[in-house]
Amino acid sequence: MTKHEHALPPPSGSIAPPCTMVIFGAAGDLTKRKLIPSLYNLAREKLLPDEFAVLGVARADLDHAGFRKQLADEIAGFVPGKLDPKLWEWLEKRIYYLPGKFDDPETFKRLSVELERIEGQHRTRGNLLFYLATSPDYFAGVTKSLKDAGLAGEEPGRWRRVIVEKPFGRDLVTAKELNASLLSVLSERQIYRIDHYLGKETVQNILVFRFANGIFEPIWNRRYVDHVQITVAETLGVEKRGGYYDRAGCLRDMVPNHIFQLISLVGMEPPISFDADAVRDEQSKVLRAIRPLAPEEVLSHTVRGQYGAGGIAGRALTHYRSEPGVDPRSHTETYVAMKLGIDSWRWNGVPFYLRVGKALATRTTEITINFRRPPLVLFRNTNVGELTPNQLVISVQPKEGISLSFGAKVPGATLKVGGVDMEFDYSRHFGSMPATGYERLMYDAMLGDQTLFQRADMVEAGWSVVAPVLDVWQALPPRGFPNYPAGTWGPADADTLLTRDGRAWRSS
Ligand code: BG6
Repeated sequence: MTKHEHALPPPSGSIAPPCTMVIFGAAGDLTKRKLIPSLYNLAREKLLPDEFAVLGVARADLDHAGFRKQLADEIAGFVPGKLDPKLWEWLEKRIYYLPGKFDDPETFKRLSVELERIEGQHRTRGNLLFYLATSPDYFAGVTKSLKDAGLAGEEPGRWRRVIVEKPFGRDLVTAKELNASLLSVLSERQIYRIDHYLGKETVQNILVFRFANGIFEPIWNRRYVDHVQITVAETLGVEKRGGYYDRAGCLRDMVPNHIFQLISLVGMEPPISFDADAVRDEQSKVLRAIRPLAPEEVLSHTVRGQYGAGGIAGRALTHYRSEPGVDPRSHTETYVAMKLGIDSWRWNGVPFYLRVGKALATRTTEITINFRRPPLVLFRNTNVGELTPNQLVISVQPKEGISLSFGAKVPGATLKVGGVDMEFDYSRHFGSMPATGYERLMYDAMLGDQTLFQRADMVEAGWSVVAPVLDVWQALPPRGFPNYPAGTWGPADADTLLTRDGRAWRSS
C-alpha cells in the first residue's frame, strides 16, 4: 500500500469508533488540564462512543478509585461553565489506572491483561490509542515495549495508534533517531506527532480563510505581499518548567514546531484535497523551501535574548537566571527573532520575520501579512505616505479573529487619509466555544485523520532550518545576557532586524 492508498477516515462529525485511550504519564499536568477536560468536552458534543474507556498509566501508586477521585477533584477548574455531574459520571466510570514504571517490561505485561479486561467490559474492539505524555526520554522505549507486548500490531478492523507529545528530539540528529526508532515499530500511519498549535481554531481557520475564499489567494504572493510577520509573545516567565526550559531554550521550544506550523499554513500552495497527505505534502514543501541560514547570516538574521528582572501589569518578575531549575549563569535564550526567506515562486524575496519570547509586554499570537504600498502619485500632497500599508492580521490568541487595515478619506473639506480596520471577531460572530484546544486533535486521532499531525519529514525539515542557528549559537555564547527587562518587547536588536530593512514590527 502506498501512503495515499489507506482507507479514508470516517467523516468528521460521526461518533468516534470504539476504543481505549491509554495515557502514559497520566499523573502529570497535561492529563488533568487538557486531556481529560477535552474528553469531557467531546462527550458533551456527543462525539465519543459508549464503547470507550481511558486507562492512565504512571508511577504514582494509585488505584482506579484514587485516580478518579484525583481527577474529579480537579476537573471543575478546567472545563467551561459548571461541571455537568451526569456527563462527568459517564466519563468517570470509563476511567481506569495502572501504576507502573515505563522502563519495566512487567508494566506492559500487566497493561496487556488490564486492556483485555477493559475491552471485555466496554466492548472497545481492540482499538487502542496510546498517548505518550511522558518525558521524551521514554518515547522510544515505551513504543518498543508496546510492540514487544503485542500491543502495537494492527489487524483488519483493529487499529493501534500512538500520539507523541513534544519535544520531538532536541535537534535534527535526535529527531531523526526518534523517527527511526518509532518507525522500526510502527508505520507512519500509526504515528500522531502532536503540535497543540494545530488544535487552535484560528490556526485551522488559516486553511479555510485562504482556500475557501476567492479573494485572497490571487494576492497571496510576492507580487502583492511585502513581508510577513509572526509574533508569539507570552507574558509568563518559565514558571515551574525551569529544568526543562533551561536545557531547551526558546528556539527549540517554539520555532521548529509551533511557529513553523504557522509559516507552513500561511506559505503553502493549495493542496489537491483535504486528504492528510495532500495537505502535509504542501506544508512539507514550504518547510523545505525555507532557505537555511549560512553561519555568517545567523549573526545578521537572528537575535536572541534573555529576560532580566522587570514587571508586567504591576506584577514583579524576577530575572530568568533566578527562576527555579535555571542555572544562575545560564546562556539559554528566552527570546528569539529571525528573518527567514522562502525560496519558492510564490515567496521569493518576501521576508518572513518572526519573534517569540517569554516575559514580554503583552500576551499575543498573531500573523500579519503586510501588503506592498500602491503607487501614490495621486496623493503626493497628502499624508498617505506616512500611513502603514494594508495589513491583514490573523489574531490567534488571546484575541481570535482577522482584521484588514486600509486607508479611508477623513471626512472634511481637505484631502486627508486615515487608517481604518475591518474586523472579524470569532467569539462575537460565532459565540465562544470554550475548549482546551486538544478536542479536535484527539477526536481526529480516534477517527484516523492525520491532517493536523506532523509527519516525520515535516519534523525533520523544521529541525534542518534551525540547525545552523543552534550550531552558531552554541559556538558563540551570547554576550550581555540578560538583554531585555521582563515586561518589555525584547532586545533592541530585534527592532533593528526590521528597521534596517525599512520596516517595523506591528505594534500590538
Ligand atoms: C509549549 C511550550 O509548547 O507552548 C511553552 O513548551 C509555551 O513554553 C506554550 O508556553 C505556548 O502555548 P500557547 O498555546 O499558550 O501559545
